[in-house]
Amino acid sequence: MDKILQFAVDLALESGRVQKKRYQERHSITYKGEINIVTDVDIECQDRIVSRIKRHFPRDLIIAEEKENVYEEHKNRWIVDPIDGTTNYAHGYPFFCTSIGYEEGGEVVCGVVYNPIFEELFFAQKGKGAYLNGERLNVSGIGEMKQALVVTGFPYDVNTSSQNNIDHFVAFLYSAQAVRRDGSAALNLSYLAAGRFDGYWELKLNPWDLAAGVLLLTEAGGVVTDLKGEPFDLYQGHICGSNGVLHGEMLRILKDGR
Ligand code: IPD
Ligand code: CA
Ligand code: CA
Repeated sequence: MDKILQFAVDLALESGRVQKKRYQERHSITYKGEINIVTDVDIECQDRIVSRIKRHFPRDLIIAEEKENVYEEHKNRWIVDPIDGTTNYAHGYPFFCTSIGYEEGGEVVCGVVYNPIFEELFFAQKGKGAYLNGERLNVSGIGEMKQALVVTGFPYDVNTSSQNNIDHFVAFLYSAQAVRRDGSAALNLSYLAAGRFDGYWELKLNPWDLAAGVLLLTEAGGVVTDLKGEPFDLYQGHICGSNGVLHGEMLRILKDGR
């Protein structure tokens, strides 16, 4: 295994061990917004990850959710979400993960997503495929929206912004076989890569939610764009991902409704 990938896997496994060990504890919670929380476990996991990266790769930049970030160009950078699915974690709902992406010259070349409760380790390297616990991943072949299981999420300003995804959610409820909202963008993309979901869209995400998962998806044969079908930009945060076959239909529903 490549050095960067091995290191990212080690970081995610260590973070997962902490999350699992402290899962049943009563967590100390602080509020970043009315419904946007962070637990003491997010902070512990991020501190561990960041200090190990600084020790081993002192010249690399780090973009991590629970800190002030500097977005300098043309540097290798680690893009870290210590817990993606913090609300789930805080409620004892076992759908969360650590997500770590590695960007080289503006391109994500390595991604790791780990759910410690299900012991599922997803990883991908640019040009080398996507894997779950060592098994190669491929997207599904579902071509009909009425046979598709699609997934989304909602931004933390869902209660106050008109761009809150509820219109798209309703349109897909009418169009797809079923729609899920389960609170971890990184796992949503990983499941899409694994063929468990057939489509995924979401608005207003951050690079740490998406970096690893998008590489997993494309390496598993999926397609990713913004919501209008334009090239996906990790730093814009609007995403439509699919198994490829369904992509046109997903974009149509996002544009026209059901
Ligand atoms: C959140 C999750 C969720 C998505 C939110 C994200 P967090 O990340 O990925 O699925 O809908 O928009 O912010 O806050 O749990 O790291
Ligand atoms: Ca996140
Ligand atoms: Ca997070």
